[in-house]
Amino acid sequence: MLSIKNLHSGYNGNEILHGIDLSVAPNEIVAIIGPNGSGKSTLLKSIFNLCSVFSGKICFKGKDITKLPTHELIFEGISFVPQGRQVFSDLTVRENLEMGAFIMQDNALVQRNLEAVFKKFPFLKEKQNHYAFSLSGGQQQMLAIARALMQNSELLLLDEPSLGLSPKMMKEVFEKIVEINREGIGIIIVEQNAKQAIKIAHSTFVLEDGKIALQGGKEIVHNKKIKEIYLGGR
Ligand SMILES: Nc1ncnc2c1ncn2[C@@H]1O[C@H](COP(=O)(O)OP(=O)(O)OP(=O)(O)O)[C@@H](O)[C@H]1O
Ligand SMILES: [Mg+2]
Repeated sequence: MLSIKNLHSGYNGNEILHGIDLSVAPNEIVAIIGPNGSGKSTLLKSIFNLCSVFSGKICFKGKDITKLPTHELIFEGISFVPQGRQVFSDLTVRENLEMGAFIMQDNALVQRNLEAVFKKFPFLKEKQNHYAFSLSGGQQQMLAIARALMQNSELLLLDEPSLGLSPKMMKEVFEKIVEINREGIGIIIVEQNAKQAIKIAHSTFVLEDGKIALQGGKEIVHNKKIKEIYLGGR
């Protein structure tokens, strides 16, 4: 579904990612873990054309999307939920969701997507007229994910969805991600919570200093290095 070949990218001529190869099969969850500053967010931003790609190729469903502007990537079926719960706090839940679909011209389709999102997240329907700032951290994260789903996404890019959430809320967010994936949406998830991420992912990539240091399936959780560095020696 998505293939990244020898990607070199960064900001203002400063290279952060040094030759990344990664692919996502349809219906797959791919986890990206790694230390702070290793380039995880930059990898997602490279796909979504929010930083500079110096060389390499990104293909989505067989089409070269490397140079496509972000709004066209949304049309192609890629959605991005950035790090740090980016909701419009002064808008209501419903307005936030409608903003997610602003790129669509078809009102009936927007309403259909809204109903589908409300079905998946019943609390958002209940709270549709509440301001986003009045939601809890976990609810805001759910709203950010729901907003991305308003765009008919086929591939969802999630940057640290569990950051700052209580263990209970974290569990709920991970369960929702699995549920969304089961409905046929591919997911790339960047996570600090390595254990949970590896558990739900079909494959995991470890990023260090802008390079893939390690990759594997769920068995990677038993890898000595992963245990020592990312799972606190457990
Ligand atoms: N907008 C930007 N302009 C210039 N440099 C940036 C920008 N965003 C990130 N960087 C640099 O790119 C490098 C990788 O940052 P990135 O945000 O991709 O790391 P990360 O793995 O997501 O880290 P974290 O776990 O802290 O979120 C860092 O050295 C950072 O300073
Ligand atoms: Mg980051």
